[in-house]
Amino acid sequence: MSKDKILITGANGQLGRVLASELRILHGKDNVLSTDISSVDILDNEPYEFLDIMNVTRLHEIVEKHEITQVYHMAAILSASGEFNPMKTWKVNLDGYLTILELAEKFQLDKLFFPSTIAVFGTTTPRENTSQHVPLMPSTVYGISKSSGELWSNYYYDRYGTDIRSIRYPGIIGYQSLPSGGTTDYAVEIYHAAVKSEEYVCFLAEETRLPMMYMPDAIRATIQLMQADKNNLNIRTSYNLSAMSFTPSEIAESIRKIIPDFKISYEPDHRQDIAASWIESIDDGMARRDWNWKEEYDLDAMSVDMIKNLRMQYSVGS
Ligand code: SER
Repeated sequence: MSKDKILITGANGQLGRVLASELRILHGKDNVLSTDISSVDILDNEPYEFLDIMNVTRLHEIVEKHEITQVYHMAAILSASGEFNPMKTWKVNLDGYLTILELAEKFQLDKLFFPSTIAVFGTTTPRENTSQHVPLMPSTVYGISKSSGELWSNYYYDRYGTDIRSIRYPGIIGYQSLPSGGTTDYAVEIYHAAVKSEEYVCFLAEETRLPMMYMPDAIRATIQLMQADKNNLNIRTSYNLSAMSFTPSEIAESIRKIIPDFKISYEPDHRQDIAASWIESIDDGMARRDWNWKEEYDLDAMSVDMIKNLRMQYSVGS
């Protein structure tokens, strides 16, 4: 069994929950500690500690007490909700991350995972097949905090040799957990509406194309990168990562192949401006070359699996 002792912050979030289960399979249940500011969905038998990421003293206590060797720092406020409280978002996302970096250096952690995002790109970034090294001019405080975090990761690697690994996640879609406060959340909500035979009112415009990824691919990518040989990693800011890109009308069309009478209408809100500042598709050649990344799911394969799993969830729940 693994000697790694893993701490996950934000373990109750959309990615954190699924990642925690997968890491427990890999490293053993008692070697993975979930922490979050909310404890709502944490299972009774999973190691869990309440943690507000702003509480530096408690964070240090937890790392010492559990003899942590690796951190997956998933706690963050996402793009859409971040705009309602920019200063709080900066503090949680950037100050929170700086605390983790200091801790990684102080306790000489083996590895650290920092999730970045397509929100680091901005209106000055080429929108199609966007390459790794492009101008970043994020327009949301979430994007600003994550692009700054990427630079801090690179700085810590250069200066202290801290082994930080990072992915610029596209929008993530999964049946296991719900996202909250993101601009890409529509692509999860739409499946829930479809399976419940409800019309979906989409908060993005019909032709808004964004990069997306199915949850099993996102989890596999994360673990693959964390297990990759250190000597093969050439990006210490954050790796571009890609699987598919689609618009709300294309995902609706994919759902209709399984649920033919599914209906969608469009009422774009403030999130449309955020989506419009992002890119449409990504060149992730560096991830493919450095750690053999390859996605398994395209849009239709994801629809089949999402609908099958959500149907089971809703029939069990009814
Ligand atoms: N899914 C995120 C958001 O929409 C992007 O990383 O904010």
